[in-house]
Amino acid sequence: MDVFSEIDSIRSFIKKKKTEAKTIGFVPTMGSLHEGHLSLIKIAAEKADEVIVSIYVNPEQFGPDEDFEQYPRELDSDLEKCEELGVSAVFTPSDENMYGYTQYLRIEIDKLNRYIDGGSRPGFFEGILLVVNKLFNIIEPDFAVFGQKDIQQFIILQQMVTEFNHGVELVMGPIIRANDGLALSSRNAYLSEEERQKAPSLYRSLQYIEKQIAGGVDKPKLLLAHQKSELEAKGLEIDYLNLFDKKTLKPAETLIKDEQYIIAGAVWLGVTRLIDNILIEL
Ligand code: PAJ
Repeated sequence: MDVFSEIDSIRSFIKKKKTEAKTIGFVPTMGSLHEGHLSLIKIAAEKADEVIVSIYVNPEQFGPDEDFEQYPRELDSDLEKCEELGVSAVFTPSDENMYGYTQYLRIEIDKLNRYIDGGSRPGFFEGILLVVNKLFNIIEPDFAVFGQKDIQQFIILQQMVTEFNHGVELVMGPIIRANDGLALSSRNAYLSEEERQKAPSLYRSLQYIEKQIAGGVDKPKLLLAHQKSELEAKGLEIDYLNLFDKKTLKPAETLIKDEQYIIAGAVWLGVTRLIDNILIEL
């Protein structure tokens, strides 16, 4: 497995693979790889001849009060995991490689970042678009795999690919969970033992909401309010818990047959922010 930190070096590697008519699958990550990331690498390996993983904690997607400094960095064990899965090359750029010049341009997002995580984290999705746009231009993959765990990220990136004609097919991998239902996340490492016990209640709430909707609830306001107070009573602080239209990413007050919705929640447990979601079609 090759590890490149220079843009030119990974470019020549990819160029060579392309002259050999190999297809390229790409999995962008911020490292501290867990089974969720590894599941995306496996999907990429099924779809493409060569799998490229990037590991880069992108400073542009962290707010000034967020956890950029504390974000776990475990490059050695990440590289071992990639090697075990047969990854062809890992791209580990430095900040200098990615942003070592004045950045005059940004990609502006209209409407799609108003709610869900975009509503709570100003500039977050602009930072993601900036880095993924660069990464797509560097790697020029045939496929790129992202997790449903960050569903708003997937939908906004799909829009970027469509509107800016990136020649890449986006593939969405399912959410990988611990046995008790907690969605795996690099940030779970921040949880104390007691918080870790409480953490799966977010997913349980989402599942309860899903069940009630399947049972015919089409105006979820009261149901959501009730679930919020249940979570609060358990000591989780709610950022949002709501149903969103999958196309517009706006909150949905009345659910309509045949439409797709996202039941999504974000909660704080101490210093840790957890997110999770369930996709439903009525
Ligand atoms: P990161 O949080 O490292 O996640 C990398 C990829 O792993 C994302 O596509 C994310 O949705 C997916 N993922 C995370 N937890 C998962 C789980 N439990 N099951 C399945 N997939 C999971 O997302 C980012 O990095 C960054 O925003 C990035 C796209 C790399 C741009 O900086």
